Amino acid sequence: MTTPQNAAVPRTRLPEGKMPELRVMPAPSDANVYGDVFGGWIMAQVDVAGSLPATRRANGRVATIAVNSFLFKQPVFVGDLLSFYAEIVKVGNTSITVCVEVYAERNRLQADVVKVTEAQLTYVATGPDRKPRQLPPLDSLISHE
Ligand SMILES: CC(C)(COP(=O)(O)OP(=O)(O)OC[C@H]1O[C@@H](n2cnc3c(N)ncnc32)[C@H](O)[C@@H]1OP(=O)(O)O)[C@@H](O)C(=O)NCCC(=O)NCCS
Repeated sequence: MTTPQNAAVPRTRLPEGKMPELRVMPAPSDANVYGDVFGGWIMAQVDVAGSLPATRRANGRVATIAVNSFLFKQPVFVGDLLSFYAEIVKVGNTSITVCVEVYAERNRLQADVVKVTEAQLTYVATGPDRKPRQLPPLDSLISHE
């Protein structure tokens, strides 16, 4: 059935062989009166999803220093099941840059998948003093793969 929510929107699949960092369903309180989910709510979830691989790579606390890019390509609706995939794309001395992609399963049907958002954020490893901290060497980390 064609509804305003699914007309002429490119369909895709959830990325194969990857685990989402987060899966969450927005509630009516996360949306405006038209049922479209607030961008700020999506940004908060993206920030949490991106912080998870950054925290693992930093082996400790991180702070978000920058949102480098953020694209709301398709609207998100109440009841969409959102999957947030996050991948580290760059590592510096203290910073970790993460790409986050968000897919919506509309109407709770996995066959009806739309990529809704793509963002890139940078996190900085911080110490107990909240100052930047050198990232630990990769070989000192326990693998989560
Ligand atoms: C995060 C924080 C501790 C970093 O301290 P800072 O003195 O500003 O950081 P520096 O200038 O030393 O830069 C640290 C790293 O961030 C990178 N960075 C700085 N500005 C950046 C920007 N605009 N975009 C991307 N990366 C940036 C630097 O290149 C550096 O990376 P590297 O060590 O890998 O080369 C500090 O900025 C801070 O506390 N900010 C507030 C964080 C916050 O409240 N976030 C929201 C809630 S988590």
